[in-house]
Amino acid sequence: MSELVIACLSQKGGVGKSTLARLIARTYASAEWSVKIADFNTKQLTSVDWVGLRMKLGLEPVIHAEPYVSPKNFKRENFDLIVADGKPDSDDSSLAIARVSQLVIIPTGLSTDDLKPQILFANELVQKGVPRDRIMIVLNKVTESEASVQEVRQILRSTGYEIAKNDLTAKTGYQKAQDAGRSVAETTFTTLNERADGLASEIVTRMNELSEKAA
Ligand SMILES: Nc1ncnc2c1ncn2[C@@H]1O[C@H](COP(=O)(O)OP(=O)(O)OP(=O)(O)O)[C@@H](O)[C@H]1O
Ligand SMILES: [Mg+2]
Repeated sequence: MSELVIACLSQKGGVGKSTLARLIARTYASAEWSVKIADFNTKQLTSVDWVGLRMKLGLEPVIHAEPYVSPKNFKRENFDLIVADGKPDSDDSSLAIARVSQLVIIPTGLSTDDLKPQILFANELVQKGVPRDRIMIVLNKVTESEASVQEVRQILRSTGYEIAKNDLTAKTGYQKAQDAGRSVAETTFTTLNERADGLASEIVTRMNELSEKAA
């Protein structure tokens, strides 16, 4: 049985679930873990296709992916880590996934249109029994305006959720890398890779803290 599950979930579409799921998968796979992305976006299967492209190009480290409609079958898996890449809505499948995850990553952009539904989504998970400390909010597609980033961080802090200190800027390099089967830590730009690696390390650290707490 797979021991660990990290989920990237959200109410909104297009906020970066798949982007973060791939980054997390690549980070653990680089440390020799066997990792599978469970792709719940069964209409588009973006992460399954991404892994397919990765394999075709022979990119290392190897990451696995498969379509999923329910986390029930996670029990049958034999991977060190499953990264669940969620569907763009807060239906029962998202809740079921959150319940079996040690860490739930909720990505958001800076706009109120992104923030509001994502905070409501986190609240809904907590109301339905997901421990609050298992949730981590990550800012993605931030702009260069430091003031607007700080403003959003302040709003988020008032919610009491864990907010990643590292974030990802909106960059064509991140999008192009993913179109070419690479994660946001494997772009052609060192600065972009370092930024993504910083976020990935923070997620790993949080995961370790939560695992120690649970032990
Ligand atoms: N930081 C970024 N900079 C530039 N492009 C990005 C960034 N993050 C994500 N993207 C691009 O934005 C699009 C949506 O991102 P992604 O697929 O990760 O979101 P999602 O939440 O999984 O979407 P969906 O709800 O459709 O599954 C993708 O084309 C992705 O390459
Ligand atoms: Mg997706």
